Amino acid sequence: MQPVTRERSIRYLPSETAWDGWSDFLQKTIVDNGSKVICDVGGGANPQLPLEFVEANGIDYTVLDISQSELDKAPAQYHKICADVAAKDFAFGEAKFDLIFSKMVAEHVKSARNFHTNIRNMLKPGGLSVHFFPTLYTLPFTVNRLIPESLSSAILNVVAPRNRYQFDKFPAYYDWCRGPTKRQINRLEGLGYEVVDYVGFYGHASYYRRIPPVRVLHNMKTAFLLRNPMPTFTSFAYLILRKV
Ligand SMILES: C[S@@+](CC[C@H](N)C(=O)[O-])C[C@H]1O[C@@H](n2cnc3c(N)ncnc32)[C@H](O)[C@@H]1O
Repeated sequence: MQPVTRERSIRYLPSETAWDGWSDFLQKTIVDNGSKVICDVGGGANPQLPLEFVEANGIDYTVLDISQSELDKAPAQYHKICADVAAKDFAFGEAKFDLIFSKMVAEHVKSARNFHTNIRNMLKPGGLSVHFFPTLYTLPFTVNRLIPESLSSAILNVVAPRNRYQFDKFPAYYDWCRGPTKRQINRLEGLGYEVVDYVGFYGHASYYRRIPPVRVLHNMKTAFLLRNPMPTFTSFAYLILRKV
């Protein structure tokens, strides 16, 4: 497997590019690295790799999720495994994956240490761990962590309504869900990873769409942070780790 680069890259971008760019970012990372054995951790109802991409690139693709009912919502053609990737006693057998990724899952695990340790154990030496997750201490996610689940669920229905069957809401803990702070990089490296690429995203334009004065202030804050990046205040992150 070819490494992406030996240099650590830390970048900051507006949050719209996180959502619009995720599929391309993931697929490019897979293709550039020649990754063939891939696991989508927490893929649940919505596996991130289309079957056409999997077939066209000769990929052995596993979708792993803690919830069988979420897995059942995904098309039957996917290879699915029901397991808790953050379990203390997680034993997945051999380290066979070239690349393991997650989208909007890291915030839902109670122990990020177990999550990243278990994923590392599933990877071949030099394998990549790729994640897209929301981060603290941006306001909406900080509030989500502090208030009861029933209240945050009701608020979500107002600010960002969605199809709850296919895109359910899960309790969020945000353990180690941070931007590229020194502390965050040190603890990931402490588990035996090299940080290859850490992208911090600023902003939440869609949440404030219906409240124009707040949206304007929010956009000013986002522009300021993009000019003067502070890793503590990112809203989302992409992270590429390499098992060393
Ligand atoms: C917000 S959904 C994201 C689903 C999909 N990745 C997406 O972006 O649409 C979070 C998923 O993580 C799964 N999940 C939460 N904790 C997990 C764990 N400890 N192990 C495996 N999956 C987990 C949930 O069951 C759910 O399917």
